[in-house]
Amino acid sequence: MFNPAKSRPNATNQFIHPFTQLAEVEDDGPNVIVSGKGVTVTDRDGRELLDGFAGLWCVNIGYGRSEVIEAAQRQMSKLPYASSFFGFANEPALQLAEELVRLSPESLQHVFFTLGGSDAVDSTLKTIRYFFNVTGRLEKKHVIGLERGYHGVSSTGAGLTGLTGCHRFFDVPLPNQHHIPSHYRYRSSYGVTDAEIISGSVAALETKVADLGGSEKVAAFFCEPVQGSGGVIVPPEGWLAAMRDACAKLDILFVVDEVITGFGRTGQLFACDWERVEPDLMIIAKGLTSGYSPMGAVLMNDEIYRALVDKVPRDLPFAHGFTYTGHPVSAAVALACLEIYERERLPENSKVVGAHLLNGLDALREHPWVGDVRGKGLLAAIELVANRETRESFDPRLNVSQLVRRKAYENGLIVRAFSDNIIGLAPPLVVGEGDIDQMLDRLTRAICAAQTDLREA
Ligand SMILES: Cc1ncc(COP(=O)(O)O)c(C=O)c1O
Repeated sequence: MFNPAKSRPNATNQFIHPFTQLAEVEDDGPNVIVSGKGVTVTDRDGRELLDGFAGLWCVNIGYGRSEVIEAAQRQMSKLPYASSFFGFANEPALQLAEELVRLSPESLQHVFFTLGGSDAVDSTLKTIRYFFNVTGRLEKKHVIGLERGYHGVSSTGAGLTGLTGCHRFFDVPLPNQHHIPSHYRYRSSYGVTDAEIISGSVAALETKVADLGGSEKVAAFFCEPVQGSGGVIVPPEGWLAAMRDACAKLDILFVVDEVITGFGRTGQLFACDWERVEPDLMIIAKGLTSGYSPMGAVLMNDEIYRALVDKVPRDLPFAHGFTYTGHPVSAAVALACLEIYERERLPENSKVVGAHLLNGLDALREHPWVGDVRGKGLLAAIELVANRETRESFDPRLNVSQLVRRKAYENGLIVRAFSDNIIGLAPPLVVGEGDIDQMLDRLTRAICAAQTDLREA
């Protein structure tokens, strides 16, 4: 009820922003986005911005797609909600599960729906624990990820994430969570050739498993096909398949987190398709609904699913799930998105226009700040350095990537500023080459403006 005695709170801090310097946003206020069309969004001040990051690398089909909006409206009118607990279901969710099994790698046969990526990672970790427990392998508890990997921020998933910023003060990683070095070529601990990076990664995984007591103690290895939040780090060709094979040999589960890379982002529907990799489990979200409505999912192989069915007492339900598991409106949205991906061949557009983007970013290498350029499809980054010869990083206190991000915004472009002075681009997959040229032009101006600011500071 309205309470007149309650003092009016500061309008800028009622809402707590995720992954934001809270003190900074209290001072500066938020950038409020009010509308979007195609690859452009408009903020509260009327400023039009090219969205070089598709929201949070999710609005793959672009903004304002009437097919999706109408599908959501139709579903809301017909049936806004149905539980999936206790054997209930709804038609769009059943149909979506069938479609996802049809479209995903051969090994994946069953789907568990969540609300987003973090709870899909969490559901995966719980399912793995349950699978090994019900099949009598009670000591398989350790999980291994990659340094710089990102697997969301649930209370368990945050520890599997290999970014130290997600660990500090949160008491993770947990004692059963471990990391091996990333395949990060620009700052490699394995060497620089493809062969060195692949054999080094496989050896690191083998050593880690051995150090943890062998395969009887290790449950799974998790990775993204391209590391996203770690700074868009693209592994050499053959890396994903080699890690898949290594996991099979080590008798541990191979889990691919395609939350960013799924649904055309790298130029195939799933990044696993590039090397015909068949994971034991796959995590998806973001592009599944293109951000129009929240939804994620875990896809799993038949062996794991059968254990959930056959290896438990008949009176014990699979006691995991959420009120909104298989939400009918999100499922209808996802089905409409899948149609668009297929009809408009968006994975192909991502490949072709992504090559144009990478070419354009390559030209930026002439700028003294640009140390590295990398990407796959419409997923790309540049790494800014203080010294290109030595690859020396900028002093973190200068906050160079945040400065470039702000300058880009002023120039009408949204980019992502990662830590370690990495700038990321992941525009909607409907983007054209002309839009990309404009984005590159605005990014170049932003970098130059940031350089001028620093010089004058
Ligand atoms: C690879 C990966 N996994 C998991 C997540 C977590 O997804 P969500 O933010 O929907 O919880 C993300 C989010 O960016 C991600 O990039």
